[in-house]
Amino acid sequence: MSVSTLRLLSMSLLCCAALSAAAGTSLYSRLGGQSGVTAIADALIDRTANDPVAGRSFAGSNLNRIKSLLAEQLCDLSGGPCHYSGDSMKQVHGGHRISEAEFNRMVASLQAVLKERHVDLRSRNQLLRLLAHMKRDIVEHAPSVAQPRPAAP
Ligand code: HEM
Repeated sequence: MSVSTLRLLSMSLLCCAALSAAAGTSLYSRLGGQSGVTAIADALIDRTANDPVAGRSFAGSNLNRIKSLLAEQLCDLSGGPCHYSGDSMKQVHGGHRISEAEFNRMVASLQAVLKERHVDLRSRNQLLRLLAHMKRDIVEHAPSVAQPRPAAP
């Protein structure tokens, strides 16, 4: 075997070892561990609270509490060494009348924050899938308008 073939072989082995190591890491470490989830939560709440579409419901809320509980929740969800200690998504968001448009806006901000932090596509999608399950407990659907009864003949 020539030297260049050996070099090529060892390079491809190194590459595959690196890939399989990345595949085996937890979402938590791919998000950057504790400092990563803390930075993601801080940036997401700052963006959302200042957003002209999604910011409305945050007026008067304790943003530092939300940031630290969101970081804890992201750590817990992504397989990190935390246990979420806040209230349920239904209890917390109930009454704020959060619309689907507001929810989607927050998801778009999260995507932007994750991209800025160079979180890879697979990890971004994995996190979004985990959060998507919560949508039904956060978004309040407007009560359906009663349909007028057809007039009696
Ligand atoms: C999957 C998406 C979301 C997650 C994981 C999430 C998570 C959280 C967490 C952990 C808290 C603090 C819990 C506590 O105080 O015990 C919180 C509070 C809050 N969130 Fe969300 N949230 C999400 C979506 C949204 C959206 C879309 C909005 C509005 C656009 C929103 C508005 C708020 C507000 C206003 C509070 C403070 C509620 C209060 O203190 O009365 N959240 N959220």
